[in-house]
Amino acid sequence: MTTPAQIEELKTLVEPGKVLTDADSLETYGKDWTKQYAPAPSAIVFPKTTEQVQAIVRWANQHKIALVPSGGRTGLSAAAVAANGEVVVSFDYMNRIVEFNEYDRTVVCQPGVVTKQLQLFAEEKGLYYPVDFASSGSSQIGGNIGTNAGGIKVIRYGMTRNWVAGLKVVTGTGELLELNRDLIKNATGYDLRQLFIGAEGTLGFVVEATMRLERAPKNLTAMVLGTPDFDSIMPVLHAFQGKLDLTAFEFFSDRCLEKILGRGDVPAPFESRTPFYALLEFEALNEDVANEALATFEHCVEQGWVLDGVMSQSQQQLENLWKLREYISETISHWTPYKNDISVTVGQVPAFLKDIDDIVSANYPDFDVLWYGHIGDGNLHLNILKPEALAKEDFFAKCAVVNKWVFEIVEKYNGSISAEHGVGMTKRDYLQYSRSAAEIAYMKAIKAVFDPNGIMNPGKIFA
Ligand code: MLT
Ligand code: ZN
Repeated sequence: MTTPAQIEELKTLVEPGKVLTDADSLETYGKDWTKQYAPAPSAIVFPKTTEQVQAIVRWANQHKIALVPSGGRTGLSAAAVAANGEVVVSFDYMNRIVEFNEYDRTVVCQPGVVTKQLQLFAEEKGLYYPVDFASSGSSQIGGNIGTNAGGIKVIRYGMTRNWVAGLKVVTGTGELLELNRDLIKNATGYDLRQLFIGAEGTLGFVVEATMRLERAPKNLTAMVLGTPDFDSIMPVLHAFQGKLDLTAFEFFSDRCLEKILGRGDVPAPFESRTPFYALLEFEALNEDVANEALATFEHCVEQGWVLDGVMSQSQQQLENLWKLREYISETISHWTPYKNDISVTVGQVPAFLKDIDDIVSANYPDFDVLWYGHIGDGNLHLNILKPEALAKEDFFAKCAVVNKWVFEIVEKYNGSISAEHGVGMTKRDYLQYSRSAAEIAYMKAIKAVFDPNGIMNPGKIFA
């Protein structure tokens, strides 16, 4: 907690009006999209410069006050939740695109640049920023780096990590480090840049990031394919990957489609309904590619792996097909879902999903279980909707039991308890299912080097 005198001192470090302590701001900026924890920060501070971030971190060290970084607040692991009187450092006013380097195809961004802002900037330059997800209109680059965000194009372009050419960070001691100097080739020892990516602000705060851009894709075309069961999705993936360079391969169950169609603003992909759907995307660079896609579709139908399907014929149809997948998260948030974000190697996905589905449906037959995710990356999102009649606390207590079973299965398959949402507070107590005791000890030792007073987002990733 902070004292009034400490808050007055904090106010002298930033511009007038850039420290807020009113109840509304504490509630708004103290949380992300998770619903398990009540926000309880003691103040929100909005730095505008790197020097101000350094001054805030030094102030926090002096008074031993915990800081929580805050971006677009779209996180799903409570990594940006301040539940214990911390001071939230919001990057909303460090939101400028600083520089574009044509030959390097890089953009220097402040951490508060919104993902969509970077995507549109790239588009203006005839280029492409390929990390994409449903929350791209609100999420910020600093937060994406903090969680090594993934999304819907990972199968082709990889995670955020792949697109960070260089970083400037303020460490837990207030020191400014420039990491990797935006170089493509740099063989000078430990790549500290990579250490800060996915660190959830526990080592320091990103104050500038140089992001790489890519050639813009041409004539993106999507197919939605209905399958008779989950197991059929894998041979479909295999068949298409053998013929095309896919830019996405996603899946969702019919329960998800049911919810999306219930909104009334998204057209059904085709008339029939099937238990599962795959959504795949590729660049139809010429007619041969489109014909290859259709021939592969026909092969999948002949094999009985696909029952129905559609291929987009226009930009509008492409966008409508994507809505079937991208709107799921927001649509089901109405039911306070218990969310899981797990991964295994692609070949293990069917057995893994079956194990989890069996255990959840045997123990909670009345729960509405929704499956969707980035199946081409081995990343599944298990969502259980809260029954209307069950109180939130009782529901999350039951889900804590589910957690243990799910993570035991994840451990059995040598998978990850968090593929892309991060550990934060929601997965903190389960880290040992994915990381060994020795690894966790090294991670804690690394944190102590960069953050000796333990003020940078404490209680996230590990206790
Ligand atoms: C998604 O894939 O839609 C996002 O990771 C969000 C979610 O899991 O709900
Ligand atoms: Zn996802």
